[in-house]
Amino acid sequence: MAHKYPGTFISLEGPDGAGKTTQVRLLAAKLDAAAIPYVLTRDPGGTPLGKQIRHILLKPGHPVAPMTELLLYQADRAQNLAEVILPGLQAGKLVICDRYVDSSLAYQGYGRDLDLPLIQQLNAMSTGGLKPELTLLFDIESEKAMGRKHQGGHDRMENEDLSFHRKVREGYLTLAKEEPTRWRTIDASKALHTVQEEMCKIIGDHMAAKKLVFI
Ligand SMILES: Nc1ncnc2c1ncn2[C@@H]1O[C@H](COP(=O)(O)OP(=O)(O)OP(=O)(O)O)[C@@H](O)[C@H]1O
Ligand SMILES: [Mg+2]
Repeated sequence: MAHKYPGTFISLEGPDGAGKTTQVRLLAAKLDAAAIPYVLTRDPGGTPLGKQIRHILLKPGHPVAPMTELLLYQADRAQNLAEVILPGLQAGKLVICDRYVDSSLAYQGYGRDLDLPLIQQLNAMSTGGLKPELTLLFDIESEKAMGRKHQGGHDRMENEDLSFHRKVREGYLTLAKEEPTRWRTIDASKALHTVQEEMCKIIGDHMAAKKLVFI
């Protein structure tokens, strides 16, 4: 058990364009239909304050130093935890977070070479050490993921070169290997419905093990 709350805490991780947001929207429709109480949030931008931080972080053309970037993500996370994640878990809901602490390790640590122990320390500070009990890694080749992102509307992270995105992907694979009981890896290069089936199966098995109802 990763935390003391009655709810269930799941995070979705993986490179830009892997399909996390697309898949969680499909899942949300099923949860609605099955009347399962859930909270869907995202990191960054899950709160009104966080939306402003997200805008600063992802707006292209804004120079943001790596340490500034790291701290802004942590500020967003602390707010999201207090305002959305903890209340959801305390109310016994299924809380799904589109990115969370592991994104800082993958992007600012493996991608931008900031010190991993320092990021772990800041992650623990901004979340009070609250980790997801299950983290789904949407794994995909960097070229394929980049190809999926639509023309024109690229944000500051997506504008990074291929070698940055490869380092991020490798970072995620390393993180998943280091903590195999928390992570499940999904081949996100497959068709939408295949990825959705796999995601539902993994979450369904986790909920069943906790004797909780799922779709
Ligand atoms: N399995 C899939 N097959 C083909 N295209 C897909 C698949 N999953 C998602 N896409 C498309 O890829 C694009 C990126 O998907 P999405 O925004 O869900 O990725 P993401 O992981 O949330 O990325 P980011 O981390 O940048 O938010 C979208 O245009 C989406 O329609
Ligand atoms: Mg997304």
